[in-house]
Formats: sequence, C-alpha cells, structure tokens
Amino acid sequence: AAASDACGVLTGRRIVISAGGTREPLDPVRFLGNRSSGKQGIALAKAAHAAGADVELVAANIDSGLLTGLPDDITITPVESTLELQYAMQSAQTRADAIIMAAAVADYRPAETTDSKMKKSGDEGLTLRLVQNPDILRGLVDERSRQTRLGDQIIVGFAAETGDAETTALDYARAKFRRKGVDLLVFNDVSDDQAFGHDDTMVQIITSDAGDINVGEEFHGSKDHVSQKVIAALSDQFTHVES
Ligand code: CTP
Ligand code: CA
Repeated sequence: AAASDACGVLTGRRIVISAGGTREPLDPVRFLGNRSSGKQGIALAKAAHAAGADVELVAANIDSGLLTGLPDDITITPVESTLELQYAMQSAQTRADAIIMAAAVADYRPAETTDSKMKKSGDEGLTLRLVQNPDILRGLVDERSRQTRLGDQIIVGFAAETGDAETTALDYARAKFRRKGVDLLVFNDVSDDQAFGHDDTMVQIITSDAGDINVGEEFHGSKDHVSQKVIAALSDQFTHVES
C-alpha cells in the first residue's frame, strides 16, 4: 500500500543491511564497544526501502529511538556481539539479493567472558587478553563463491579510513577493496573529521571495472543523501549482472 510498492529500481529485491556497532561482553554488565550510532545503516535501509526493496536490518546496539521512525515492513533483527551478528548475517545470506555490511564490527573480543561480575583484586591494573573476531564480510564473500545459487548476490562493504605518512586513506581503501572481494566498497575518509554520530559525511564508491579498480566521484552531504547514491550504485550492479 506504500508508495514503494510502485516500481522502484529495487522492487522485488531483498536487501540485508547490518548497522550499528558490536559490543563484546566482558561480564554480565560490561562490554568493549565502539561509537557507531547506526545512523548510516538506518539511512541505507530507508533508501533501499524507498527504492522498492524488501529490507532486513540487522541492528547491532542501535538506540531504539533511531529505529522507531523506520517503515514497519522493514524486518529488524537486534544483535549485540560480533558472533551474534555473524550468525544473523549468515542466516540472512541465504535469502538476500544484496548484502550491505555497514556495521562497525569489533576486530577483537575478550578471550574470556565471566558469568558473574568481575571483581577488583588488589591495587594492580588489569590486563585483558583479546582474540580476533571472524571477518564476517570475508566469510559472506567466501560463502557466495561456494554456493552457485548465490552467484548473483551483490555484496557491499564499508571502509572508514585515515591516511598516514606513507599511505593515503584512499589507497588503504583500494587495498581493502581487493582484499575483501566485495562488489562495491563505500570509502569514507575520516582523516580530519569524526564521522561517528555526525550527520554529514563524504563517501566515494569503489567498484571494479573489467579488473581495474574504479574510484567514483566524491559524494558529500547528509547520510540520507549519501545513502541514495550508494543504493543507486548498488542498483547499477544488478543491471550489470543482467546484461
Ligand atoms: N567487517 C566485518 N567483520 C569484521 C570486521 C569488519 O564484516 N570482523 C566489515 C565491516 O562491516 C566493513 C568492512 O568489513 O563493511 C571493513 O571494515 P574495516 O574495519 O574497515 O576492515 P578490517 O578488515 O577490520 O580492517 P582494519 O584492520 O582496517 O580494521
Ligand atoms: Ca576493523
């Protein structure tokens, strides 16, 4: 009954989007987390929905106030940790025409989690041992290559990068595009701003063009505006597959 039922560029496509930031539990009341608000992923979910897609949002620790404004036919799966996010994404992959990994995923989690609250002991500091989390995006790309019926699935990654003395932020993003095996990498230069929680952003969309890396123009503006550009680029990928 919504306007999105009219033929949009993504009508009939199921898009699964991860958003927010994972939290890695230390004990029942403490976690290691990051500052991702989930606003970018929510903006993408809205843009995909407006383009006619069936949208599933896997929401890692997003403030409920941010989720209430979403169209109510968007399915929301709440998750906390990286392992929960991985499970939700793997389950959703089987029915997805496209996957967008916009969540900020913790690279490490505590090696041990206790069932009861950790207690202080003595006057010493505390050393935490961390283990590396699985690369969810890489796993989804690998699964796609193993399953013939997922062959046409489009997979999108995000990369917020800063440059340093030897390497520009964009060069890091190019390397990440190659390493991840995604169809589309949304590069966000965060060298001189704090993208996290802010309403304005700049992205460039990296794709591959007959084996060469193609870096798109800079898109500046609100997360809604930038999301529309990302969804347009995603639609182009479907067109490529079909032609
Ligand atoms: N990502 C993921 N699983 C992880 C880490 C990242 O799926 N364990 C996804 C993010 O959601 C994002 C993309 O991979 O779409 C790039 O994340 P980023 O943190 O930039 O990449 P990393 O491979 O973790 O590399 P880095 O060492 O630069 O953090
Ligand atoms: Ca990382």
